[in-house]
Amino acid sequence: MQVQDRQIQDRQAEDRLDASIGAIVADPLLHARWLNTFSFLEYVGFRKIVKSQRAEALNAAILTHALEEGRHALGLKKLAVKLGGPQFDSYAPKALLCGEEAEAYFQDLDGACEEAFLDRSEAERAALVYCYVTWLVERRALQVYGAYKTALGDSEVARKLDGLLAEEAKHLTDVEASLHAGDPDFVTRSREFEAVETGLYSKFLEALAHELAAPAAA
Ligand SMILES: [Fe+2]
Ligand SMILES: [Fe+2]
Repeated sequence: MQVQDRQIQDRQAEDRLDASIGAIVADPLLHARWLNTFSFLEYVGFRKIVKSQRAEALNAAILTHALEEGRHALGLKKLAVKLGGPQFDSYAPKALLCGEEAEAYFQDLDGACEEAFLDRSEAERAALVYCYVTWLVERRALQVYGAYKTALGDSEVARKLDGLLAEEAKHLTDVEASLHAGDPDFVTRSREFEAVETGLYSKFLEALAHELAAPAAA
């Protein structure tokens, strides 16, 4: 894809996200489902790290990362419950906004990265997949949380997002340093994975717009 086409596609995705966020924050129940969906994704991230990393390779940085994702899941869950009530104290499909599609985004991205490293040893693959999936997801998380925070203006939720954003930025810096040092093909490979991630993300955005347009969402 040409650079210019890519820029147009990125801008369209940003506009689409902003339009969806505008509709979501205007409705407390949709907003609670949105917060709970982020909580769910943070929980999936936490669970992925814990399940995929072998204990003998688990260092303080990875353990910190896992626990911070778990803490993000809890903090966002508390905000969802505060805004929407006790029915948001679970990850039941009705308490989420496109929860299935959000999880598919994450699992498909993980699957694509796993597949790219099938020729490696299990230990090497686990380390590379962890770094690449984190790198891709954190970049997207910073963009989406950033757009969401802008739409919130000065509010309790926006202030809580500041701490979370700082931790996500640190996770990104850490794995990017590991990838620069550990994968000689980082530059080309990261571009290929980025294209995969962009496709999965736009599928999610499409599902979100569709859900928001459905009468049941209102
Ligand atoms: Fe997080
Ligand atoms: Fe993170």
